[in-house]
This record gives sequence, C-alpha cells and structure tokens, in this order.
Amino acid sequence: MSHIELQSRLPRTYHIKEIKQETEMVRTYTFDGSLGAKPGQFVMVWLPGVDEVPMSVAYDDGAETKITFFNVGDMTAELATCKVGDLVGLRGPFGTCYEWKPGQHIALVAGGYGAAPMYFVAKETVGHGCTLEVIVGARGEEHLLYLEELEALPHVSLHIATNDGSVGYKGFNTDVLQKMLDSCPVGADGCSPIDQVFACGPEMMLKKISEITAAHKIPSQLSLERYMKCGYGLCGNCVVDPLGIRLCTDGPVIKNDVCVKIEEFGKYHRDGVGRKHEFKGS
Ligand SMILES: Cc1cc2nc3c(=O)[nH]c(=O)nc-3n(C[C@H](O)[C@H](O)[C@H](O)COP(=O)(O)OP(=O)(O)OC[C@H]3O[C@@H](n4cnc5c(N)ncnc54)[C@H](O)[C@@H]3O)c2cc1C
Ligand code: FES
Repeated sequence: MSHIELQSRLPRTYHIKEIKQETEMVRTYTFDGSLGAKPGQFVMVWLPGVDEVPMSVAYDDGAETKITFFNVGDMTAELATCKVGDLVGLRGPFGTCYEWKPGQHIALVAGGYGAAPMYFVAKETVGHGCTLEVIVGARGEEHLLYLEELEALPHVSLHIATNDGSVGYKGFNTDVLQKMLDSCPVGADGCSPIDQVFACGPEMMLKKISEITAAHKIPSQLSLERYMKCGYGLCGNCVVDPLGIRLCTDGPVIKNDVCVKIEEFGKYHRDGVGRKHEFKGS
C-alpha cells in the first residue's frame, strides 16, 4: 500500500471531454487529464452520493484518460446519464500492467469491455515493434467493440468471433486462439511463433485461455476481477483463495503460472460482503 502515493489514493475530479456511444449499452468517456496509467491498470470511478466502482483504463496517452463501460447496474446507469463537461472522480491508477519485450509476437484475446484495455495494450506494444494477433469476441456483431481502432493500427492481424456467427468465426474467441496455437506448434528450437498471450474478458473465457496456453507451454497474462473497494490493498475484499494475494495490488493482470494456483479461479468469486458466488458454467 505504501508504494501508492497519497495523490493516487485520493479522488480527483476530471471533466468529461468527449462521449462515444459504442453500442446500446456501452459508452466511452474521455477525461481531460492523464493519471499516468499503463495498459492493464484500473481506476476507481466515483460519483459522489452514488458509488465508486473499478474500471479498466481504456487509454491514457499522457494528456487524456479513457474508460469504456457497460451500463449494468445502479452506478453505471447513473454514470451513463453524464454529459460532456460533467465532473467525475477518479482514483488511481491501481494494480499491475501487461509486460512485454520489444519485437515480440503477441496474441491478444478480448471479450466484452476487455476490448478497451486490449486496445490500449495493442497501441503501446506496436509502438515497441511488436506484431499482434488480436482476437475480439462478442455475442453478436452489434456488441463488438474497438474494431475500427484496432484495424487502424499497424502490425495487427484482427480475428473476430461471434457466438451467433453474424460476423467472423461462429463460436468463441478461445476457439480461435486454440486453432491458432494448434496451427503454429512449438518449433524444434522449443520456441513458439507466438511469444505470449494477453487476455481480458469474462472469467470463464480467461480460465479457458489459462488451460490452452498452459497446454501449449506459452506464457500468458490474464486480467482477473474481484469485488474492489479501496483499490490499493487496504480492505482485503479482493483477496483470492488460497494464495491470499490481493487482486487490486498483485493483479488485476496476473501471470498464468500464478493464476493456476488460484483455486477459486473459474469457480467462484465473493461479493462486497464476502459471500461466495459460483461462476455460470464452472
Ligand atoms: C479491475 C476491474 C476492472 C473493471 N473494468 C471495467 C471496465 O472497464 N468496464 C466496465 O464496464 N466494467 C468494469 N469492471 C466491472 C465494474 O466495476 C462493474 O461492472 C461495475 O462496478 C458495476 O457497477 P453497478 O453499480 O453499475 O452495478 P451493480 O448492479 O451494483 O453490480 C453489477 C455487478 O458488477 C460487479 N460489481 C459491482 N461493484 C463492484 C466493485 N466495486 N468491484 C468489482 N465488481 C463490482 C458485481 O459483480 C455486480 O454483481 C471492472 C471490474 C474490476 C474489478
Ligand atoms: S480492493 Fe481493498 S484490498 Fe483490494
């Protein structure tokens, strides 16, 4: 906790500079300031008198910060009523970020709002000479996010998967990753053409990616979410069994060799009062 400066632990208000309605339920807000966030980190988004919730940073270029959010409940419904010029409180940035080496060939897998932080990581990694296979998945075409932005980046091969087959591969984005890794097996030198896999999305998608990348002996970094209150290691609400690590400080981006030791990964999570909830399909 002590390594997070007081300045980042306290909320500061930022004006909403731009609003993009991505889909019926999804909006992107651009704020008029940088928090110095790296790809994979999150901020706590505060609406006074309503609530404070964690959101991944969708972009931070040193001048502006973006978040992309789903309108799913009380806080996000209120957030969705904001207009350009309104003030929103942000704390952070918090947590770990994705790590890469210049020139690597990386597969990025995105589900749901995970496309936003995956775009942030894509933009930064191509700037470091990396080449990318980006796999974006959604229920249907109308729910796909960040396609135009990803297509505009150099050195990106974009792959799309939709559950209903309305565009791209019919099925899960994890099927696309599986086929991709099966078709480029580890060479005689013991190296895979894909150096590592980064993913952000629903937990059951991450669980599958953990299994696929472990089977192919390819390192992966996955963004895990738990109910977060303080965001900087104080309250203990985001601790996972049995390791006792706090996902707000040791995560949200976790290397797969640690993920596989988290027994609750892909099985259950705890709500704001510590009650267990099983993941659907676990
Ligand atoms: C590290 C991290 C990054 C996230 N990034 C994004 C993002 O980029 N975009 C986005 O739309 N959502 C993101 N979320 C999820 C987001 O925080 C919740 O969807 C949001 O809090 C819903 O709040 P609500 O009050 O509108 O809904 P509610 O109806 O109150 O909650 C709906 C569900 O959201 C989850 N939730 C609520 N409060 C919290 C909390 N404090 N911490 C964690 N989960 C909570 C719970 O699973 C709950 O069942 C992220 C969560 C985490 C932990
Ligand atoms: S959210 Fe408080 S310790 Fe992680």
